[in-house]
Amino acid sequence: MADAGHVPWWRDAVVYQIYPRSFLDTDGDGVGDLRGIERRLDHLVWLGVDAVWISPFYRSPMADFGYDVSDYCDVDPRFGTLADADRLIAAAHERGLRLLVDWVPNHTSDQHPWFAESRSSRSSPKRDWYHWRDGRDGRPPNNWRAAFGGRAWTFDDATGQWYLHLFLPQQPDLNWSNPDVVAAMHQVLRFWLDRGVDGFRIDVVHCIGKDPAFPDQPAQLGEIDRVGIQNEPTTHELIRGFRRLVDSYPGERTTVGEVNLGDLPSIASFYGRGDELHMVFNFLPLHAPWTKAAWQDVIERVAQELPTGAWPTWALSNHDVRRIRTRLGGEDAARAAAVLLLTQRGTPFVYQGDELGLEDAVVPDAHRVDPGGRDGCRAPLPWEPGPSHGWPTPSPWLPWPPEADARNAASERDDRASMLRLYRDLLALRRRSPALRRGSLHLRDALDDVLAYEREWGGDRRLVLVNFGDREAEVPLEGSWAVDVASRPQPEPGVVPAHGAAVLAPER
Ligand code: NOJ
Repeated sequence: MADAGHVPWWRDAVVYQIYPRSFLDTDGDGVGDLRGIERRLDHLVWLGVDAVWISPFYRSPMADFGYDVSDYCDVDPRFGTLADADRLIAAAHERGLRLLVDWVPNHTSDQHPWFAESRSSRSSPKRDWYHWRDGRDGRPPNNWRAAFGGRAWTFDDATGQWYLHLFLPQQPDLNWSNPDVVAAMHQVLRFWLDRGVDGFRIDVVHCIGKDPAFPDQPAQLGEIDRVGIQNEPTTHELIRGFRRLVDSYPGERTTVGEVNLGDLPSIASFYGRGDELHMVFNFLPLHAPWTKAAWQDVIERVAQELPTGAWPTWALSNHDVRRIRTRLGGEDAARAAAVLLLTQRGTPFVYQGDELGLEDAVVPDAHRVDPGGRDGCRAPLPWEPGPSHGWPTPSPWLPWPPEADARNAASERDDRASMLRLYRDLLALRRRSPALRRGSLHLRDALDDVLAYEREWGGDRRLVLVNFGDREAEVPLEGSWAVDVASRPQPEPGVVPAHGAAVLAPER
């Protein structure tokens, strides 16, 4: 029987998201690669994260920069080789880091051999691996819209039918009601589990089940794209199927699913009864404005609306949205947001570069490459002061983020007051404080603009104060407290600067 007090590693972990094209290049093509990741693992250990999630590095025509996979069981040559992946997994494990890979089950690339075969004729044995339908008098089978604009169906001249794609036409949706598709995708999971990965970040997992009748979506939903509403009950059984597979491997392999449904009750349902996803991304903080009311609401709702046992997750940024520093407009608030992120109850995900306080790059129109307009947050990581910032080329695939001569890993490592050192201090604190990693969270009354909450676990306590206001706030404290980590130096434990935050520990 499992030890009742046992906490699986992923609940105690902080996960660092690597966007491999932009982490570090080693072969001079201007695109990051797996060897670049391996080279900087020691830096991530120094930073103090526990695990990395690497966005897709599989073979791909790159219409959606890797989220259009043409071979799930090979590494794209731009990123390296399978041998590099094996070395990276081993190198991470040698350093005590866990490694999650990205699994993209909803769609393949249109260049995947499965789709090539499927589209080759109506009688292809793989025809039913994707969603093919007749049109309605020359119009698509239904009114669904795709995520990057346009309709979610593309007509295939050769076979005279339409195929479904919730994203780009180059990303046809797999038909998960076909047991052969389920078996083939389970095989992909086994392929990576056998190689030793510790789990999967699962792309738009809420989309995999489809109603075979493909009804129109109601007119009142207008032009809203399908990804934000696709929520078919059959998806849950499919998730339980691969959860059993993942759980059959030793070593507490894990899953964290991307469920792009805006409301928490829907998100909560993807935890199942502890038999679906281990974790589900909580995207509320990506859209929360910088106000006490908004953040208090997010924290309260996560506590109230996730079922008992459903372990929350927290993220401030990722490769799909503007960075937290850009959204908040200033460094002070971005520093306070780091305190918020790393003191929540749940597993935090840090998007590469947020720990350097990076802003989105300004990408001139002529250099824009992403069909979803997300280039800014995907700019390459500067490792050193200029001109090539530790990359083999001064001109990688996207422009550098602003102020890269000051905001780079080497300069910030040397600067005790940098954002990087703040992240490192917070990560070290989280590691040594069971209250922060595992404890209860209780909101406390504080002044107008100050959000205050206490974390507690087995006698360990921390009080977190976040000042969302434009003025210094003096918070009356009960008992005697000392500053553990603060986003900016503060004169006294209860005196929090404008847009500042602090973690306090009781004085003994
Ligand atoms: C979500 C991913 O995060 C995003 O980058 C991608 O474009 C879509 N899913 C489609 O795979």
